[in-house]
Amino acid sequence: MAIISDGEKFKSEKTQKETRENICAKTTDYDNCFETNIRPKSFDEYIGQSQLKETLKISIEAAKKRNEPLDHLLFYGPPGLGKTTLSSVIANEMGSKIKTTSAPALEKPRDIIGILMSLKKNDFLFIDEIHRLNKIAEEILYPGMEDFTIDRTIGKGETTRTLRIPIVKFTLVGATTKAGSLSGPLRDRFGIIHKLEFYTDQELKQILKRTASIINAEIDEEGAELIASSARGTPRIANRLLKRIRDYAVVKSDGLITKKTAQKALKLLNIDEYGLDITDRELLKLLIEKHNGGPVGIETIAAALGEDIKTIEDVYEPYLLQAGFIARTPRGRKACCNAYEHLGYKIPSAQQNFFTD
Ligand code: ADE
Repeated sequence: MAIISDGEKFKSEKTQKETRENICAKTTDYDNCFETNIRPKSFDEYIGQSQLKETLKISIEAAKKRNEPLDHLLFYGPPGLGKTTLSSVIANEMGSKIKTTSAPALEKPRDIIGILMSLKKNDFLFIDEIHRLNKIAEEILYPGMEDFTIDRTIGKGETTRTLRIPIVKFTLVGATTKAGSLSGPLRDRFGIIHKLEFYTDQELKQILKRTASIINAEIDEEGAELIASSARGTPRIANRLLKRIRDYAVVKSDGLITKKTAQKALKLLNIDEYGLDITDRELLKLLIEKHNGGPVGIETIAAALGEDIKTIEDVYEPYLLQAGFIARTPRGRKACCNAYEHLGYKIPSAQQNFFTD
């Protein structure tokens, strides 16, 4: 039987932080490579987001019938839900190639002009974190999106002229965790705008079984169910957990991921039955123990946890909000009854009037 030693249980804070960065929904280069290998290529292989898939299939079929590129698409939602994956599936279904970049990489006008001019007919251009696009890049993009042209300024002083240069027809896919931060004019130029939803445990279980078969990991039904329910509705987290738990099963057991092995491995990774990790629990404890349940400003939370505001807002909060552990109020974040119950605290009576104060 695999035994977790005290030494393993009380890992240093540094190791714990490294572990949670490996498991949370943030992307890393290593992970991008892993995700590319397991990424579904078609709608048939893509699990979940069924309503969105149906809508997209119709748009794709209509665009193909008209022999036109697909309208520009904007996907928004928390990280790890498959915005990149879905975009490459759509490009495949359209029989097109996809070029991927991210807004911070398009700092200079020549960056965005260069990429637009390098596109081949009907290519897809995927821009991640599109809310971070600077004003100049945005303005270069507008005629590109609308008329498939770019305006280039040539000459200096009085001889300055603007040349309108045609580019090929293409489809822009923008992805963002913050749809509200996109400028109005940019948002209005997307014909198709969709939010990606958290996945159900059943969908995550199917994703886990599919990934396990690709990476040759052995997993039984109950093992897959447990990992699915600990993955915070997020495929990226489910797949990361699968890899870590497979390692555990290979080293501490016979390689098969069962419910029992998964439970032990999750305990070692400090992930509880709701899929909350140390940072999630620290955040809830901070609200409850230090601030009487809140409200607490995001700056205070980030400083106390040693994380940046963006990570708290984009990575940790979306699931805590959706699972009803915290609520956002105009004065800051508050702990909800679920948080008190989950961490074993008595619910204060003030919580009963939660939404009225
Ligand atoms: N791997 C990651 N996300 C997936 C999805 N939605 N369907 C199938 N495999 C996946």
